[in-house]
Amino acid sequence: MLKFPQGFLWGSSTSAPQSEGRVEGDGKGENIWDYWYEIEPEKFHNEIGPEKTSGFYKNYKEDIELLEQTGHNVFRTSIQWARLFPKGTGDINPDGVAFYEDVFKRVKEKGIELIVNLYHFDMPLELQKMGGWESKETVYAYENYARTCFELFGEYVDSWVTFNEPIVHVECGYLYQFHYPMKVDAKAAAQVAYYTQLASSMAVKACHEVDANYRISIILNLTPAYPRSEHPADQKAARVAELFQAKSFLDPSVKGEYPEELVSILKEHDLLPEYTEEELAIIRENTVDFLGVNYYQPLRVKAPQYQWNPESPFLPEYYYEPHDMPGKKMNPYRGWEIYEKGVYDLAMTIKEDYGNIEWILTENGMGVEGEAQYREDGMIQDDYRIEYIQGHLRELHRAIEDGANCHGYLLWTFIDCWSWLNAYKNRYGLVELDLETEKRTIKKSGHWFKELSENNGF
Ligand code: NOJ
Repeated sequence: MLKFPQGFLWGSSTSAPQSEGRVEGDGKGENIWDYWYEIEPEKFHNEIGPEKTSGFYKNYKEDIELLEQTGHNVFRTSIQWARLFPKGTGDINPDGVAFYEDVFKRVKEKGIELIVNLYHFDMPLELQKMGGWESKETVYAYENYARTCFELFGEYVDSWVTFNEPIVHVECGYLYQFHYPMKVDAKAAAQVAYYTQLASSMAVKACHEVDANYRISIILNLTPAYPRSEHPADQKAARVAELFQAKSFLDPSVKGEYPEELVSILKEHDLLPEYTEEELAIIRENTVDFLGVNYYQPLRVKAPQYQWNPESPFLPEYYYEPHDMPGKKMNPYRGWEIYEKGVYDLAMTIKEDYGNIEWILTENGMGVEGEAQYREDGMIQDDYRIEYIQGHLRELHRAIEDGANCHGYLLWTFIDCWSWLNAYKNRYGLVELDLETEKRTIKKSGHWFKELSENNGF
């Protein structure tokens, strides 16, 4: 049996915009997802938008009972900025305050540790209209929102998180057109990344000012990048991928400074964002207390094979391409690659290059299309998910034995939730959601997860 260190955290992660849904008169303001769905519903799988989700806003009492029934000793969720501040700044929504207070209190009453994230891709629409993360005003508004959360809910929250996967809103919103505002603009992307980092560091500062004992982190999707071959061009592609996708937030968040290579590439291409020395000092002096790491699949990269298009926002000599690897896939068995050893590799990078900072695996999970076909005797028999979790836990256990400072494993996700443009295409939960009736049924993996947590291993 593989036993994990005493006090190891076992639970799952979700986010407010993917689980809460909307209720008439709840006082929530619109965020970019609500708006985007209004104007382009056909972009969303089966035209299901963010107002639907699993309805945690009204079902949270039942859901908190389910946390217990599936063995959670930790739960991660987020606050929707626009539920608390409907316009991003200004007046606060009292119903939003009461809602989060009750949720957090009830989770704590169950003896479950609570991790609360402040930003999960959900920019309030009013702030987006004024430039979103391209504008310094948004950084100040975020600092005010974060400080308000620490003051209002600090007594219930065990650990705070400034941002979830910040590189995603940079790339998807400003390079790849997968998130609103769907821009393709490398200069804007660099500014957005920098202001997001500044906002994160300012929130770390505010958190410690509110209470020096509060703990705060940032959650990064630290996908290790593996080159296709020994060829120097492929090797370089992997280094560049890691620099842009991981180190761009990892280094300033943990070490307080940007990698020199990244700065010189941006400078050389006239992409440096606007910044001040005072801001850089805030970033330097306010590093995170611990790290959250999301891991699903590695990056497999190769040097670009095509004629570079001068209109492209990507830099010609610093672009890289993904390549497909044969082997295990999700969804059984296509889509995202399953590569358990990635967990071990990233654990060793954190140990060796980032001072072995304390960390938690804050997301790992298997999204399965058409999961209803695995229902037998009234329950989804998701042995494939149990196998998936076990495979990653073996690598995590090996890493901990080799000195990794990891304190918990959180699965994505608790109850099947709404996934951005994919809506309900892929199911990830320990608990099945019936979209029509909102009925919740624990899957085989949910029962197994309880044993895992009770035994502190498997
Ligand atoms: C990462 C994100 O944090 C979450 O919002 C998303 O739904 C999952 N990955 C699954 O793709």
